[in-house]
Amino acid sequence: MSAISLYAKPSANFAQKLKASKALLQSAAAHYAPLTQASSLGAEDMVVTHLLQQSGIDASIFVLDTGMLHAETLALVGRIEERYQRKVDVYRPDTSAASAFVQTHGSDAMYKSLELRKQCCHIRKMEPLARALAGKNGWFTGLRREQSSFRAEVHDIEPQAERVKINPLADWSWGDVWHFIATHDVPFNPLHDQFFPSIGCAPCTRAVTLGEDFRSGRWWWEQESAKECGLHVAADGTHEAQEPAAFEPLSSVSSIIPIREIPA
Ligand code: ADX
Ligand code: SF4
Repeated sequence: MSAISLYAKPSANFAQKLKASKALLQSAAAHYAPLTQASSLGAEDMVVTHLLQQSGIDASIFVLDTGMLHAETLALVGRIEERYQRKVDVYRPDTSAASAFVQTHGSDAMYKSLELRKQCCHIRKMEPLARALAGKNGWFTGLRREQSSFRAEVHDIEPQAERVKINPLADWSWGDVWHFIATHDVPFNPLHDQFFPSIGCAPCTRAVTLGEDFRSGRWWWEQESAKECGLHVAADGTHEAQEPAAFEPLSSVSSIIPIREIPA
């Protein structure tokens, strides 16, 4: 069963959502350059890459290659470069930190305790993320509110200490994502055809069965509340989203225009 035939089903107001997402990209380009896209190479991120390209947005793209990604996932780097004629920046963990961790705790450390799993995520994702974001004023992600209860608070634009996070698909459904992939022939990870909706590192991702939650194949041995790697978690463990009006934009613009109100 292909992911497209299983999932592609646009919301009734998909055209408005798409228009709002494109307006958000343009607004971000005007206010938050230099920009970058964090791509996990999952379905949402492939859509964001396509939208950035289609809209002519000047943003780099980076992938955190944890050293634990499936071969099918990594193969998308070449497919993006070929399809969109642009380079993807690949960030890898510090080799000595990663091997020291494995030597001390074993290659199955992530299953032993939440603390060790988070340490692994810190070495393989968080530290490389800091390098990838250095010097950027804004970063695009593929976060969607529908992905989990933890992510239900995701805003279109979220302030962080040094930059803003921009989530152009925050309002999209899984059906919208696949409708866009189908109608624009966007490349995607073949693991999505094998019931892997959310794809991360191989040891921490498995297929789901019909009816299971979207993220139930990620860190499946943990409680729902713990199931984040840290990329989108505030220091106090909550979702870091704040109301867009509560922060000062980085550019000279004095207030954020709620994106849904930007005229067409
Ligand atoms: S995760 O935090 O549990 O791994 P998820 O896989 O849902 O997150 O991805 C959410 C967003 O985080 C993606 O849309 C992407 O923007 C970013 N992201 C996650 N993993 C990576 C990665 N390996 N490289 C770059 N960005 C990533
Ligand atoms: Fe390590 Fe798993 Fe986190 Fe990947 S998702 S960095 S393998 S604990």
